[in-house]
Formats: sequence, C-alpha cells, structure tokens
Amino acid sequence: MLTVDNLKDLKGKRVLVRVDFNVPLKEGKIRDDNRIVAALPTIKKLVNEGAKVILMSHLGKIKHKEAPEVVEAQKKKNDLSVVRGRLEELLGVTVSFCPELKGKDFHYFVDTLEDGTVLLCQNTRYEKGEEKNDSELAKEWASVADVFVMDAFGSAHRAHASTNGIPAILKEEGKPVACGYLVEKEINSLMRCVDVKDSDRPYVAILGGLKVSDKIKVIDSLLKKCDKILIGGAMAYTFAKALGKDVGTSPCELDQLDYALKCLKEANGRIVLPLDSVAANGFDDWTDKKVTSDQNIPEGYQGMDIGPKTIKLFKEEISKAKMVFWNGPMGVFEQKDFQAGTLAICEAIRELDGKAFTVCGGGDSAAAVKEFGFKDDFSHVSTGGGASLEMIENDGHLPGVDILK
Ligand code: 3PG
Repeated sequence: MLTVDNLKDLKGKRVLVRVDFNVPLKEGKIRDDNRIVAALPTIKKLVNEGAKVILMSHLGKIKHKEAPEVVEAQKKKNDLSVVRGRLEELLGVTVSFCPELKGKDFHYFVDTLEDGTVLLCQNTRYEKGEEKNDSELAKEWASVADVFVMDAFGSAHRAHASTNGIPAILKEEGKPVACGYLVEKEINSLMRCVDVKDSDRPYVAILGGLKVSDKIKVIDSLLKKCDKILIGGAMAYTFAKALGKDVGTSPCELDQLDYALKCLKEANGRIVLPLDSVAANGFDDWTDKKVTSDQNIPEGYQGMDIGPKTIKLFKEEISKAKMVFWNGPMGVFEQKDFQAGTLAICEAIRELDGKAFTVCGGGDSAAAVKEFGFKDDFSHVSTGGGASLEMIENDGHLPGVDILK
C-alpha cells in the first residue's frame, strides 16, 4: 500500500483526501476538534508539496428515506462548513468551502483551486448515493482527482462512495491511491493487536459499553487472540444474568444469554467478569447508590459502574499485560459518581509506564481517556470506534483500507 510519502511530483496535482471530520457538535459548535487535529499532518504535507487539496468528509447522519423537511433539518444540523474556520486556524492556510458536491458549481470550485491551497467540500452524506456507494456519484467525485488519499480511519469500515468508490475508480484508471499518515499509524498500531506476537503476551483485552450484541464479532475474534478478556460496563450484566445472578433493572439482553454462556465455556477461564458493582436506584434521576457485595444487584437498582473489588482484580490483570486493547467504558463515566471504574483502567495503563503496548480503541473510551488526561499514557488512542472494532473483528480488513492495496 502506498503512503503519502510515496507520492511524488504533487505540485499542481488535484489530491482528493477523504478525512473524517465527523466531529461532535454541541449547539452548532465543535465540542472536540481531535479528529481535525489528527488529519493535519497529511494535509500540511500535501499543501507544502504544492498540491491542490480537496477534502471530503461526512458529518453526522442524514436519513434520505425520511420526509423532505426532516432531511433538510438533518442537513442543516450537519452542515460541514462548521469545520472550515477551525481547520483554517489550525492549518494556517486559507481553506475555502464548496457547498456543492455535484454539477457546475462543484467543478468550478475545484477548477479554480490554486496550488498549495485547500478546498473543503460539503458533507458527503448530503448526497444519497454516498452511503450506497453509487457508481455515478463516485465517478463524478473521482473525475476531480489526480490522486486519492485515504486519511479517514474512523470511516474506513464504511464501503461508501467517498471511502471505497473513488479509490476503486482511480485505481482502474491507473491513478495513485494512498493512505495518509493518520490511517498509516492506525493500521500499524491495530495490526499489532490482530497479528499477535509471543513477545506481546499476556495480551489483555478490556471490553465495556452497553451491548453484548454489538460486540459479538469482536468477542469471538478476541477469544482466539487474547490471554484474558476483562468485561465491564453494562454488557457485564448480560453475562451475570446468564450465570443466574440478579441484575435488578440493569440493561440486560435476554436474547444474548446463550451466547454469553457459549463465550464463557469457550474462554475456559479467560473471561474475567466483575466481582461487584456500584448500583443506583435510577439512571439520571437516582437518589441512592450502593456498592454491592457480589455480582447480584438489588431489586430496583441498576449497575452503574464496576465496584472496588473488581477494580483491584482488573488492575492486577492489567499489571501483568504486555499488550492491552481497550474498547468501551466500565461504567457511566459521564456521571462523576460512576467514573471510578473507567478512571481505574486509565490509571492501570499509566502504571504500566510504557512497559506494554496499549491501545484504546476509540469511541467513548477514547473520549474518557482524553477527558481524564491519560492520552499520552497509551501507545495509541484510535480515532475510530467502529473502525477499530471491525479491524479486530475482520482480522485487519476494512473496505476503506483494502481498496488501497
Ligand atoms: C464515527 O464517528 O464512528 C465515524 O465517523 C463513522 O461514522 P458513522 O458511524 O456515522 O458511519
């Protein structure tokens, strides 16, 4: 696979870069610019080489099957021009914005782009053909590019027109397609968690989050690779229920109980479940909380975090690891009373003091790592939640990466 460093003679070339500027917004403002910052090295390199840089990204969800007024409201909410100013500030180079993704105006913006400047195009999901990987749309987008660079790791698990359709066409035309610095680093880090070397053992995975059903494929895959899988978060209550424990009003997937038992059997002691919980008599509106003495949750209470005995056990397991892959918080870390479990995982990684290779697989756990100030303690914090999980699930294969090969 080519990387941006392999691309030569870029001066005056139209380089279309798929970035992931799907940034969290609050009241129309960027809440976290991490994904913009992460894309800067590739963009700067191309600008410095004198390329005409065309950036494409999606933002949020646009459901084209909804009524026209609903689609319009979704478009308004997910207008990518919100990113332009911050990008320009961070880059120190003028960034123009193209509100169109097709037709005369779109081509005019691209055709008048000067060497060493940047054009940010509107949200790719404004076009309904994007998520369908529509070939006509991909053809139109590919027609404005001499080179394609994939730097949207967070979207590499989507076979969409901008992530998969464009590079497929350019490859057929014999034009270069390459990965950017961000994607290159993500692949190198995550592949180490896929192709496990003996020197990286014990390999400990930590899984949390809400649903077992969302993680079935990743659990199956990790069971083949890991020495231990620590399970916290709400998904642990489905395992507890399968073992006949009382889970109170904790979220629990009754249709996954057989799967949970199958995993435990297959794991043969390698799955480590919580020993206790911090439970509350409500979610946002709770008035009482208690630490349970074991895995049972009292009636009318729901598990909100792993308890102190579990924290001690999980920290011990992590302290022995040579490699850690973590995806999903241990509790409701957005609430101060239930963040101890997630914080403890961060502390355990810090205590490894660089003696293990540690990866945080994006999504909510990456948000927690950043919020708690532990980003530099990890070997790698992924910018893609879904993409990093799918990378593990599919043994390193993603449609937005495989197409570059
Ligand atoms: C993400 O935030 O996980 C990526 O940007 C992909 O977004 P999507 O789940 O809407 O495709």
